[in-house]
Amino acid sequence: MPRPYQPSLLRLLHGATAVLVVGAWLSGFLVYNRFDGRWGRLPLALSGDWIDLHGTVAVMLWPLVLMFALYAATLGRARLRQPANLIALLALALAVGSGKLMQEDWLRDGELGHGVYAVHLVAWLMLAGAVLSHVGSVLARGGRPLAASMASLEVRPRDQPRDWWGQIRRHFSR
Ligand code: HEM
Repeated sequence: MPRPYQPSLLRLLHGATAVLVVGAWLSGFLVYNRFDGRWGRLPLALSGDWIDLHGTVAVMLWPLVLMFALYAATLGRARLRQPANLIALLALALAVGSGKLMQEDWLRDGELGHGVYAVHLVAWLMLAGAVLSHVGSVLARGGRPLAASMASLEVRPRDQPRDWWGQIRRHFSR
């Protein structure tokens, strides 16, 4: 079987999104732990403005998710037929979208009853499940070689950054 290869533009968008998603997920947990804790709390003595940090990661994630989603819906459409890929993207969109509708001061002011915040908490949980099942599906379909193909730094000759524009144009002229 040929070694799996992922287009470099996909790897760039997917990799940057994945790193920021992990940062947003963890900092989101720290915000919950400090300002909410209704369903339990870890005894962490971490000082820091986690709401600010979480918001900064979210601001970076937002345009990236938009570009990644556009890529996935167009050039990556065949991969989106995998339910686990689609669910990971939908969970991410729900998390980012509901986060965007929240206001920074709600949790600082103890306002925990907003519906959008409830949706954001559910999205946080869904994202964890969706990413785990996505990674599980990748491993089940292609094992370590498929998983590693997403982190590989190999760039084939016709897949250099200067070829990205041509790849996009060819997709839309098909
Ligand atoms: C952290 C959040 C993650 C999200 C939101 C996410 C989302 C996605 C999406 C939407 C696709 C389809 C892209 C397209 O249509 O072109 C995809 C593909 C892929 N992802 Fe992820 N992913 C994440 C993490 C990971 C991780 C940690 C791995 C490593 C195991 C991984 C491995 C892959 C692979 C190998 C593919 C392409 C393979 C295929 O399904 O054909 N992803 N991912």
